[in-house]
Amino acid sequence: MLEKLKQRWKVNSINLLLIIFTFALGGSLCGYAGRKILQLTTIENGLLWVVIYVVLITLLWPLCVLLISIPLGQFSFFKRYLVKVWNRISRKKLQSAPLIAIFASGAGSNAQKIIDYFDNRKNTGKVALIVCNKAGAGVIDIAKKNTIDTLLIDKEPFFTTDIYINELKQKGIGFIVLAGFLWKIPVSLIKAYPNKIVNIHPALLPKYGGKGMYGNKVHEAVIAAAEKESGITIHYVDELYDHGNIIFQTTCTINETDTPDSLAKKIHLLEHQHYPAVIEQVLKTQNPR
Ligand code: GAR
Repeated sequence: MLEKLKQRWKVNSINLLLIIFTFALGGSLCGYAGRKILQLTTIENGLLWVVIYVVLITLLWPLCVLLISIPLGQFSFFKRYLVKVWNRISRKKLQSAPLIAIFASGAGSNAQKIIDYFDNRKNTGKVALIVCNKAGAGVIDIAKKNTIDTLLIDKEPFFTTDIYINELKQKGIGFIVLAGFLWKIPVSLIKAYPNKIVNIHPALLPKYGGKGMYGNKVHEAVIAAAEKESGITIHYVDELYDHGNIIFQTTCTINETDTPDSLAKKIHLLEHQHYPAVIEQVLKTQNPR
């Protein structure tokens, strides 16, 4: 048992003894302090006394062990330990309302709609982060205006390391929404977020998707092919461009007078109308209450 603890906490025998001693001393100290505080009140021994005592020692315990850990030289261990406990508790909270990161490279009109939508639905999800690969992109201003954290990413570490994955996990991000994000998503990120990354594409996939097919380029191709209708596709992200399982599609008609710009407006309207609600549906299905 002690050997297991040594391995788990990555400490030697002496440190393990000091840690156990700190736990014991910290526990006794908070028990003593809890009783002393209650003696200063008029609360009589009974059920209420026990309830308040339990709440008190729960609050005092981290403080007491941290205090005892200083003279015993175990402060950094207990600081890490308490942060871990706290992260575990807050992750539990997140399970019911996942934190969403929106990845975007452009103007961010979809990001804005999603932020607005989830502002009133904090029990379903909360937009907590905007991830962007372009310093001057409009979506960064949107993040600032809405006081949402921004993570500006570089290409090389995005494709060759796990540093951004670690950062997303550290921030408690549970779901990723691509809204006009133009880089391919690396397999490592897809594996770290299985079925938890969705994308919107401004055409009816599987047509008019793939590398280089984004924004107005898509609408130009659709009009050049004399299509009578276009639309939007919301899909899970897999390791290929615009390829994962389709969640939702809806269409709009194309008139003879339509241009790539006028079609883009129709598509944006559809995106703004449907993307936030479809994300909500996915979150509700994945996190049933
Ligand atoms: C949206 O129309 C989205 O469908 C498209 O970029 C636009 C972003 O607009 N995405 C792609 O083309 C991905 N292949 P926004 O910045 O105003 O939300």
